[in-house]
Amino acid sequence: MAVDVLSTAEGRAKAAKSRTHAATWKAARDAGENIPLGTAAPPDHPARPARPELLSPRDVPKRKPGSPAGRIALLHAVAHIELNAVDLHWDIIARFADTPMPTGFYDDWVKAADDEAKHFNLMCDCLENMESFYGDLPAHHGMWRAATDTADDLHGRLAIVPMVLEARGLDVTPGMIAIFEKAGESEAVESLRTIYAEEVSHVAYGAKWFNFCCGRADSDPKEVFHALVRQYFKGGLKPPFNEEKRAEAGLPPDFYWPLAEEYPAYLR
Ligand SMILES: [Fe+2]
Ligand SMILES: [Fe+2]
Repeated sequence: MAVDVLSTAEGRAKAAKSRTHAATWKAARDAGENIPLGTAAPPDHPARPARPELLSPRDVPKRKPGSPAGRIALLHAVAHIELNAVDLHWDIIARFADTPMPTGFYDDWVKAADDEAKHFNLMCDCLENMESFYGDLPAHHGMWRAATDTADDLHGRLAIVPMVLEARGLDVTPGMIAIFEKAGESEAVESLRTIYAEEVSHVAYGAKWFNFCCGRADSDPKEVFHALVRQYFKGGLKPPFNEEKRAEAGLPPDFYWPLAEEYPAYLR
């Protein structure tokens, strides 16, 4: 199921498969069936549509969020993040299938992959109602980098994807919601609120399984987190942080604040 999603290129089709497979998994679990995990080789890079054109972040044109074009660009960027997130959650399921994990680990990432597919669809709906569509603008090419860098390291994957990248989403989403509130664009406001509410659980899944892996290895989660972020995510973490939502997701301040000191002050 994971490789099927990862091998599907078109965005809406990928999202549809993600939702269908998640429903199949959940139905089996609810019925008390023991689903064999299986093995499958996920592709190094997931299949992606011909558009959007993927550019280096510095080549993606910056637009002011005060304009309708700027707001479309913002939603387009979120849609791109959500599509990457669909792949990231299925990838963690298939990539590390040889590491024994409790079934709840798979329940969580299947649920997260289902949420991301819903989020991608919400962003596409908003774009289409604003006379645009996913693929209309260029997008960042570097988003799969975190997956490539941590392809052999489940601990590293958990530290970087949910606990750094998705946690960053919690920091920036309230500001995005405010932009669309100010513009009176209620569909985008509602959609971003749904995303914001559901992303907390993805960060929480990350923290939960990261702590589980550390406990199994008898290592200190905070120390391991700092070492892995320094290894895979150069440049430190960018404040300000959403301390309230991070706490709700099980990310304590002593995990991220020491890494913020490594973020260059002139970029803040
Ligand atoms: Fe999402
Ligand atoms: Fe997420």
